Amino acid sequence: MSANNLKNLEVYFNLMLANGSSSLYRIVQEMQLFNSYNPGETFTADALAEKHGFKLVPTKVLCDTLVTMGLLETENDQFRLSNVMNLLKGNYKNLSDEYWAHLPTLLKTGAPFKKMDTVENSEMEYQVQVKSLEWMMTPCARLMVEKLSDNRELQVLDVGAGSGVWSFNFLYANPKAKVTLADWPAVLKVAKDTAEKTKISDRVTYIEGNFHQTDFGAERFDYATLGNVTHIQTPDENKSLFKKIAKVLKPGGKLIILDAYGKAPEGAMARALYQMGLTIRTVQGRVYLPHELEPWLKEAGFTSFEFQSLETVPYSMGMLIAKK
Ligand SMILES: C[S@@+](CC[C@H](N)C(=O)[O-])C[C@H]1O[C@@H](n2cnc3c(N)ncnc32)[C@H](O)[C@@H]1O
Repeated sequence: MSANNLKNLEVYFNLMLANGSSSLYRIVQEMQLFNSYNPGETFTADALAEKHGFKLVPTKVLCDTLVTMGLLETENDQFRLSNVMNLLKGNYKNLSDEYWAHLPTLLKTGAPFKKMDTVENSEMEYQVQVKSLEWMMTPCARLMVEKLSDNRELQVLDVGAGSGVWSFNFLYANPKAKVTLADWPAVLKVAKDTAEKTKISDRVTYIEGNFHQTDFGAERFDYATLGNVTHIQTPDENKSLFKKIAKVLKPGGKLIILDAYGKAPEGAMARALYQMGLTIRTVQGRVYLPHELEPWLKEAGFTSFEFQSLETVPYSMGMLIAKK
């Protein structure tokens, strides 16, 4: 088979797999097949079939397929919902269907489904979103800290901190680190709650309000993080944010910009769909690539740059490290 034909076949299979798994997931949710099971509760395929009046063979095949998809777990012919399936009972059940359904309207009118990048909306929108972002970004945040491997007495500024996922992972890894989170007051409640629960509150301070207007204080930070923020700012807003951050970093201090611009090949689809989603839910959201950010960073006083992909789930993220 020619390389071209092989590529065609691969594209076809990828599409079939994506459609097959999303169809199965949707049907299971629409038919409410597992709604009555509590976390940890086990059941057999026979019991599931009897409960719904289904034929046994397709019920068993369905359960096995859902195990492969990671939605059920199995042991000795017993099944139970996986943690993800339990989570998908709540707000995330429809996997953002309403966003994708808006695409025809966006194409025709240019009007996004939501305007999450506007100052009027960001506090309310992100108050809801950042807890799930924490879950999604935790492996990347851990890997970032591991790659930096810096055990000094650190001061870290987390701008647009949300749940605090990026800076809190400095704290979890390094008992001598202290962090300052800048975000809206309503959003920072989520971070405060986590800090209480993980017993790190005494090493966290907060700068509440619009981060374009609040005071980041003196030149005292070793690191600043901007995680998933530059893509919801305009070029001018990014430039002024970089200048503001440069002023409070110590000489040699580093700004780490984290965004869906990693280079891991496994993350290609996640990156493309992320940009599509961003276009649907923002007025002008766009993932600025490192080579677009670097001139703005230079203008703000940063002198050297290093880029690393974060090769962990969701394989889409990368970090641009700009040194003052
Ligand atoms: C996409 S979230 C990223 C949160 C976190 N850094 C992460 O990666 O999970 C963007 C964050 O920036 C905050 N944000 C956006 N515009 C802001 C502004 N003008 N002032 C303060 N915070 C803002 C939002 O509230 C939100 O928490």
